[in-house]
Amino acid sequence: MRVGLLTGGGDVPGLNAAIRAVVKRGEGEHGHTIVGFRNGWRGVVDGDVTPVSRQQIRNVLPVGGTMLGTARYHPRAEDGGIDAVIATLEQERIDALICIGGDGTLHAASKVAEAGVKIVAIPKTIDNDVFGTDKSIGFDTAVWIATEAIDRLHTTAESHNRVMVVEVMGHHAGWIAVTSAIAGGAEVVLTPEEPFDIEKVVKYLKHRHRSHASFSIVVVAEGAVPLKGSAMDYEVPVGKFGEIVAGAIGERVKNEIEARTGFDARLTVLGHVQRGGSPTPTDRILGSRFGVAAIDAITRGESDVMTALHGENIVLVPLPEIAGKIKVVPADLIEVARTLA
Ligand code: F6P
Repeated sequence: MRVGLLTGGGDVPGLNAAIRAVVKRGEGEHGHTIVGFRNGWRGVVDGDVTPVSRQQIRNVLPVGGTMLGTARYHPRAEDGGIDAVIATLEQERIDALICIGGDGTLHAASKVAEAGVKIVAIPKTIDNDVFGTDKSIGFDTAVWIATEAIDRLHTTAESHNRVMVVEVMGHHAGWIAVTSAIAGGAEVVLTPEEPFDIEKVVKYLKHRHRSHASFSIVVVAEGAVPLKGSAMDYEVPVGKFGEIVAGAIGERVKNEIEARTGFDARLTVLGHVQRGGSPTPTDRILGSRFGVAAIDAITRGESDVMTALHGENIVLVPLPEIAGKIKVVPADLIEVARTLA
């Protein structure tokens, strides 16, 4: 078989582990040819192909990013985009396609599958918000980086008697915020799932600083928003391409805390640091397991499915059931973060 392979959306650590697994298993065990498309769906539309064989995947396991390149490009949003995808796949004699991506890439994959292309998807996103899987590739590394940052902020916060606000990624869901807040022992965590009341945050900080502490760590997911009708008016700023503006909510929360408490406060925006660098062992293992499961599924003739982690097991879930949905943080996990503050 000739199997196409692409990585789409934001990069994450662990993508190369998945690519390597697809190639090793696909070429070595099943005798397939793996054809890489550069820069996600953009490369499929443009016919931008690159061979990925055992030679290219040497030493990529510990390397962050994606050796195939990636782009935030959705063929279904372009006139004739899906037709261009089909035309390239025919021209390259691709029998089936493996798409590694987050919600946007997987939504596009589902549309391409509807047009009759055999597709198996693999979930990746540091935000961990892909529906239908317990974990996505990249999340573990991002939580590790955010936790390390919170640990480091603790010592400087305590030395200066400051409130340190740290903004982490998480546009639609606060997985990184909540889990790194628990792991790093942060005092406050603000997430998109539960709009916050700045007065309650301030009351809590004042009480804490009056009674037993001189510093606090406040973790804010980039998609956190204030409760409608609460003390803080906030219009979510939107970037040129409709993206979230990094640092906007963090800056606002820091300013509100400073103005309402008189405490000295500072902001750290972790940004793309969370997406860069070497993957943790957990992400290398997850990427490898998803890669093997995806190419095995393709070999069995399965299509329109996504590899997923359910507990300890890798399973396949139907793409149409998950495409377009977001997996948010359950209330009980947010409660753990709050209880341990
Ligand atoms: O991949 C999701 C994400 O990490 C979001 O949390 C964040 O808003 C976005 O990527 C940033 O993307 P870009 O790399 O396009 O700035």
